[in-house]
Amino acid sequence: MSKFISLKTSLPGTKSQEIAKKREKYVAKPMSGSLSPCYIAYGEGALVTDVDGNQLIDLTGGWGCLAVGHTHKKVVAAIKDQAEKYLHTDFTAVPYEPLVELAEKLVKLAPGSTPKSAAFFNSGAEAIENAVKIARAHTKRPAIIVFENAFHGRTLLTMTMTHKAMPYKYHFGPFAPEIYRLPFPSSSHPMADIEDFEKILVNTVIPDSVAAIVVEPIQGEGGFNVPQEGFLEYLRELTEKYGMLLITDEIQSGIGRTGKFYAIENWNIEPDLICLGKSLASGLPLSAVITKKEITDTLPGGCIGGTYVGNPLACRAALEVIKIIEEEQLLERALKIGERLKERFLKMKDRYSIVGDVRGIGAMMAIELVKDRKTKEPATQETAQVIQECVKNGVLIAGAGINKNVLRMLVSLEITDEQLDEALEVLEKAIAKV
Ligand SMILES: Cc1ncc(COP(=O)(O)O)c(C=O)c1O
Repeated sequence: MSKFISLKTSLPGTKSQEIAKKREKYVAKPMSGSLSPCYIAYGEGALVTDVDGNQLIDLTGGWGCLAVGHTHKKVVAAIKDQAEKYLHTDFTAVPYEPLVELAEKLVKLAPGSTPKSAAFFNSGAEAIENAVKIARAHTKRPAIIVFENAFHGRTLLTMTMTHKAMPYKYHFGPFAPEIYRLPFPSSSHPMADIEDFEKILVNTVIPDSVAAIVVEPIQGEGGFNVPQEGFLEYLRELTEKYGMLLITDEIQSGIGRTGKFYAIENWNIEPDLICLGKSLASGLPLSAVITKKEITDTLPGGCIGGTYVGNPLACRAALEVIKIIEEEQLLERALKIGERLKERFLKMKDRYSIVGDVRGIGAMMAIELVKDRKTKEPATQETAQVIQECVKNGVLIAGAGINKNVLRMLVSLEITDEQLDEALEVLEKAIAKV
């Protein structure tokens, strides 16, 4: 018996179909193809109601932007309050306190004792672009090291840093220079000897031309790949040895999802720059780069920024997100959700040979579907079928992985156990079917 999923029509219903027809006509084709065929009317927590009155459970959280769920009352109240005061000034024209307050919060929460400051941008890609600019200006070096399976965005620089060619690099070259890609030793694909990484690095690029290594503490789009034990600590040592900076891209993994506010807090490491986005302002466009002050303070005023960066509505929303995470103990909740997911996924692994791997940290948990557990041949088509079957039955779930064979959980940390169990029931039935 479904308690939360309520399908009044087959999906999509007639109202969604009507909107879809207009979309076909007027919305740019490369933006076509949503996971859900249903158009949202409203959302609350982990639930979404569409324009035909169907209620679905959302495990995607707007691709990981909704750690505190759809329309958290406190976030909405803060946005409304701010909207009545001022919408925009540009911080460099008329400054405002919410941005300063947010910078203080993020800096105080950041790992390590080195004094830090925060800069704000609109999107994840913009945060990464600026982190790279800052690293290059500070080190006066051009090269950037990124990883296999990485995803850093879709702008010219960040699509170059992103691994996957199709669709992200589709005839969009020439690409940005001085980006070097190295293997990402993960828990599922470890390196026999981690020290080999240094050999590969020095054979790929002259180390003293490298400004920074950019790493996702847990790879997001790449398939929730958890770094091999000791790898991030080793990277920190290596960057120090060669005078490179260490930048963590926590755009997907940050803001509580792993059970820590910053994902990198799962390791005993102080990065030089940390990039945040997505859940930071509960889906409002806001990203941040937290840097050691010694790195940014020497840069000239105005060399980073932008008209809309650090928008006051988004800053107010972000301040609420941080408060909610603290007040509702969502870091602990992320761990509980993670345990529940892992237990259920491991049972699925026992029951269905297609489940090849279960991995993640905290609520950032995923399952990998394979045709054969030994060869790990990706079950790409089957993964698409599982996602479609889930959607048909009222559960929105995100795929991932360079081979599109990973199902990743980007659930709101506000999801209840009952809602989660109901969604997992649908997922398990879908897996059983393929
Ligand atoms: C790890 C990571 N970095 C960067 C980005 C790019 O963020 P945005 O789409 O906001 O530009 C994403 C988006 O999915 C991401 O997951």
